[in-house]
Amino acid sequence: MSSVPQDPDNTDWPDSGSEPSRQDLGRLIYASICQVDGPVLDEMRRIRDHAVVNNQAHNIRVALMHRCGWFVEWIEGPPDGIRALMERVALDPRHRSLRVVHESLGKPRLFKPWIGSIAEATESTGEFARRVMALHERHQKGKGYEPASVWRSLCSPLPGHVEVAAASEGSYQRVMLMSAARTDAFDLLRWLATREKRGVVHRRFAGAARDALDVESDYLDLPQQAAAGRRLIANARKGLAMGMTHAFLPDYAALVIVLDTDAERNEHLLDRLLRACQHVAHQPVIVGLGADSWFSDSLRSATEARGLRWVEARTGDRAHDMATLWWALKRVLDALT
Ligand SMILES: Cc1cc2nc3c(=O)[nH]c(=O)nc-3n(C[C@H](O)[C@H](O)[C@H](O)COP(=O)(O)O)c2cc1C
Repeated sequence: MSSVPQDPDNTDWPDSGSEPSRQDLGRLIYASICQVDGPVLDEMRRIRDHAVVNNQAHNIRVALMHRCGWFVEWIEGPPDGIRALMERVALDPRHRSLRVVHESLGKPRLFKPWIGSIAEATESTGEFARRVMALHERHQKGKGYEPASVWRSLCSPLPGHVEVAAASEGSYQRVMLMSAARTDAFDLLRWLATREKRGVVHRRFAGAARDALDVESDYLDLPQQAAAGRRLIANARKGLAMGMTHAFLPDYAALVIVLDTDAERNEHLLDRLLRACQHVAHQPVIVGLGADSWFSDSLRSATEARGLRWVEARTGDRAHDMATLWWALKRVLDALT
């Protein structure tokens, strides 16, 4: 079985050897009850080994998620290829009760032949099943949501009932945090969660290659903030090489870099972020966060040279602590809404 070594620093995509299609493609999402005995991660790796070869041959890209005892698969590609894959997948004994929750033609979001992820369950299997059925019924009535919204409604739902959550989908402010060094972005999220008395949700994404690194991504919902709620998502730097990060880039209002004293680290991360953004039609604002002395003119000029907006969230010359960082960032994020 072939396995493509993945450079965790490589932001370039797609990695399937073809340019992302600008034309409309078929898009289908289904959910199914997992029937795997034993470790699901091992079984997902077996599915991946098969899928990366098969899917690439048919110009199909998929994202597969396991959560709450369910699989959710998001497929993009030529409609005939999707149909053929669905016929094979429907016969697979590793799952049952397939429910299509989205089917349409539209712009692609997935640019890797296979993206796998396992999410921490934050609800019971029964609650998840209700969510699937609500989306399935909406789809059958022709009132379905966009694929990215459907995926989020299942895999990283907003607080509240599926209808309530879906209604605020578009207006929720999404903000990605990455730190130029250490784990500052994750630390900031944890600090804020404690302050706001809310839980952080942990997720783990598996790389598309046998030897690719797993990547963690945490998020925190702040439904009382911004015009209609705010979600902060902390991503590891190596997450920039992940297909899932690319799929959701168009939905971010802001990408925040928690800067470091080391100017080279700041520039390196910004460069990777800007390269990831060049494939995305809607481009988020890039926010630098940190003390005055950590900013350099080169950050602004590099961002503007790519046609993106650079905004500075400065904490002054004070040695920073989490509270100082958060208030500087919040001021900037509030001004974006
Ligand atoms: C949840 C789930 C998702 C799957 N996704 C894919 C996929 O994206 N591509 C693929 O080729 N096979 C996928 N499979 C495996 C297929 O069901 C099937 O085993 C495989 O395509 C059989 O191929 P073959 O007839 O060439 O042996 C998936 C299986 C499961 C249980």
